[in-house]
Amino acid sequence: MKIGFFDSGIGGITVLHDAVKMMPNVDYIYYADTDNVPYGKKTKEEVRHFVFDAVDFIVSQGVKAIVIACNTATSVAIRDLRTRYSIPIIGMEPAVKPAVEKNRDASKRVIVTATDLTLKEEKLQNLIDKLDNEHIVDLLSLQELVTFSERFDFSEETAMPYLKRQFSKYDLNSCDTVVLGCTHFTFYRNMIKSLLPEGVDIIDGNQGTVKNLKKILEGLNLQGEGSGNITFYNSGRKVEDEKQLTAYMGLLRRLD
Ligand code: DGL
Repeated sequence: MKIGFFDSGIGGITVLHDAVKMMPNVDYIYYADTDNVPYGKKTKEEVRHFVFDAVDFIVSQGVKAIVIACNTATSVAIRDLRTRYSIPIIGMEPAVKPAVEKNRDASKRVIVTATDLTLKEEKLQNLIDKLDNEHIVDLLSLQELVTFSERFDFSEETAMPYLKRQFSKYDLNSCDTVVLGCTHFTFYRNMIKSLLPEGVDIIDGNQGTVKNLKKILEGLNLQGEGSGNITFYNSGRKVEDEKQLTAYMGLLRRLD
């Protein structure tokens, strides 16, 4: 059985990584839309068009389900994707709910980080309107992390000055939880942690998404007969170059 993973670029690898660990008996397709990344700086219409093209391709490879391992793509296209295809489509959204519930009584603040487009979109606004009755949520774009990670730049020299500048917009001493609302940001989790006061939690939706995928597959009685094999595609082109594959694999290991 093959499962498709989709992201604008390498961010979804952070989710794929958890999936391979939790479900090693499945084969995977990982599709990075490298021709069109970053989605967060594009318009909703542009991103929707890219996502439909990519998902058409992934479905044509015979996958049994697709994880949209991209908060930005989910926020602009998930509803229409589910109408368009009959296989399960699992989306991702910033983990606002657990963060807000955990802090409601403590009167501490929650910083939700995401791409520019996710922050502008109605889907996140609606989620916050529904959950954030006490107005404890602050929003923060970390869009540049997408650019850094796409060029495989995980150095502190590049990311730390940017992160310091962005987080200086808020009083971090009154913050209890930071939500990583973009799959690319997970690569910088440790750097973000080093900027925050002791005890501030960082949460993402990665494990929850994979658990959800597993539950859906079990519910449909779809169990794996694969071997954790991953085939990578860059915007529909199969990645044959070993150097690139090694770099991807290195990224997966870096998350352990
Ligand atoms: N990885 C993506 C997300 O989870 C999108 C990053 C981008 O292409 O701007 O939102």
